[in-house]
Amino acid sequence: MLEKLGLPQLSTQAPAVDNAYYFILISSIFLLIATTTAMLYFAWTYRESKVGKNAKVPYMGGHHLFEIIVSTVCGGFFLLVFVWGMIGFYSLYDPPKDTYDINVTGQKWQWITQYANGKTLTNELVIPKDTNIKLILTSKDVIHSFYLPEFRIKQDAVPGHYTSLWFRATKVAEGRIFCAEFCGTEHSGMIGKVRILEPSAFKAWLNGVDISKRDVVLAGKDLFQKRNCVACHSVNGSGKSHGPSLGGIFGSAVTLASGEKIERTEDYVRQSITNPGGQVVKGYKSFMPTYKGLLSEDDLGALVAYIKSLKE
Ligand code: CUA
Repeated sequence: MLEKLGLPQLSTQAPAVDNAYYFILISSIFLLIATTTAMLYFAWTYRESKVGKNAKVPYMGGHHLFEIIVSTVCGGFFLLVFVWGMIGFYSLYDPPKDTYDINVTGQKWQWITQYANGKTLTNELVIPKDTNIKLILTSKDVIHSFYLPEFRIKQDAVPGHYTSLWFRATKVAEGRIFCAEFCGTEHSGMIGKVRILEPSAFKAWLNGVDISKRDVVLAGKDLFQKRNCVACHSVNGSGKSHGPSLGGIFGSAVTLASGEKIERTEDYVRQSITNPGGQVVKGYKSFMPTYKGLLSEDDLGALVAYIKSLKE
């Protein structure tokens, strides 16, 4: 229905979101009509001019079976909507392993997208069709919200953190980017465009002539040396005394000194650089200095990309 109203479904997730939305909308309309009709019917049937001014209000007792049926049906209805929504939520926020990753940074008042080879766009996202895309979001200033209406997905971009969003585009088309979190005077102007290309056309575009000089993983490798991360962290799985080896850690689980077990995501790597004392791996002491404020967003992104690229 929304398709016909001009909001195409461009992602694999869009139909599920629309179905849940229409189920809630249509059942709400049905309930509105049912309760309003009953109310008008009783108001008319028992109007004062018909039953008289001194008509007695009849005493009505409870009816257990009826109450149980009503409570079960209503409760079941809400549970159905809840479980439906929860299943959709997990599939929207649990990306598959084989994703093509793109960094997205919000700032007043534009979106910067950056690809692994360093190619950078403003207010534009170009993606291949039929590919699992993961966006790694952050912000340079305040909270923004990255919203792709044609894909039915939305996620906050939070300064100092990475959040992520994944989807899979289903056709070659164009969509819109909005900011969905009030972020200042030009909030409504923080809009952009998504272009979906055939995978082969995407490759050609990505490696096209206007490619930037900076390979993100190589830049991260360079920073890793320059910032002397290498003094405490090995990258090939061999143990060093001060810090854990970073080879192959990305995406795997680890036990922290606090006993908590967590998965090492982009945000974990970021927090370990900007707030090293916060999530110390079990068996290690916390004496790494914080790099908060010492690295630009681009440098942080490069270091994270480099650490992600490391194999055991
Ligand atoms: Cu950025 Cu609203």
